[in-house]
Amino acid sequence: MSSVKLRIAIQKSGRLYEDSLKLLKDCGIDLKNGINKLKTEAENFPMEIFFLRDDDIPQYVEDAVADIGIAGENVIYEKNKKVTVTEKLGFGKCRLSVAVGRNEQYNGPDFLRNKKIATTYPVLLAAFLEKEKIPAEIHEISGSVEIAPGIGLADAIVDLVSSGSTLFMNGLKEVETILHSEAVLIRHPGLNAERMRILDKLLFRIRSVRKARHTKYILLNAPNANLKEIISLLPGMKSPTVLPLAEPGWSSVHSVVNENEFWDIIEKLTEAGAQGILVVPIEKMIL
Ligand code: PRP
Ligand code: ZN
Repeated sequence: MSSVKLRIAIQKSGRLYEDSLKLLKDCGIDLKNGINKLKTEAENFPMEIFFLRDDDIPQYVEDAVADIGIAGENVIYEKNKKVTVTEKLGFGKCRLSVAVGRNEQYNGPDFLRNKKIATTYPVLLAAFLEKEKIPAEIHEISGSVEIAPGIGLADAIVDLVSSGSTLFMNGLKEVETILHSEAVLIRHPGLNAERMRILDKLLFRIRSVRKARHTKYILLNAPNANLKEIISLLPGMKSPTVLPLAEPGWSSVHSVVNENEFWDIIEKLTEAGAQGILVVPIEKMIL
């Protein structure tokens, strides 16, 4: 038995923390208790977990201090480190935006001409200004960017917006989106074969969990006379399972439906005479 472990870096607190832990849990990876420490390991998977500031994660992965990491695309693109983006994770959705005082008359990027903009994202802001051909002063600060306009430190800010409550509470309004972002899994570009094998196992589990999150398992009873119509309403993975019921003339139909089309399908199924419809969550989905 080899004792190599895959070292993963995740955010130690903040927007991505809970969802990162939940993803590992849904993948069946249990962590040894010390949640508040900087480092722990999995009980049932060859993995070590480092808890770090999200902004530092690309650097640790580039330096191979961690093999893989979970971070926002915003941080990945800003830091521009040599890491490989392996998988989008579908959580931590947010945007990098320009915000100005609520009462400002914003009439497009030209508003920013020769103004002072505070941000922790100087690289992405510079690229935006370059693209718009607007000269402006970038004032890089390391945090609490949202208070800069209120204390006269800047005319505008560029910061992450998720719910928008931080901007709102600071009297700011969002006027321009520079980048849409979500959490991604990154890896060191030169992982050895043994670590790649563990990563592949993890990715297999992540994909199964993510597929299952958007699908439901549906069971229903159908009169045989309408079976054809009912089956045509169900996409299924291949085709639905149909089993005869004890009661003559009826069958039980099992299938998988997508969350997005779920209510639509249920209505049509009822109209087509389906009864006793049960919908259950799917935990994992292996295709
Ligand atoms: C971002 C940003 C705001 C907040 C916005 O911080 O700097 O503080 O999230 O979220 P809201 O629109 O829901 O109010 P981040 O999570 O990157 O934490 P950090 O600044 O500590 O790295
Ligand atoms: Zn951050």
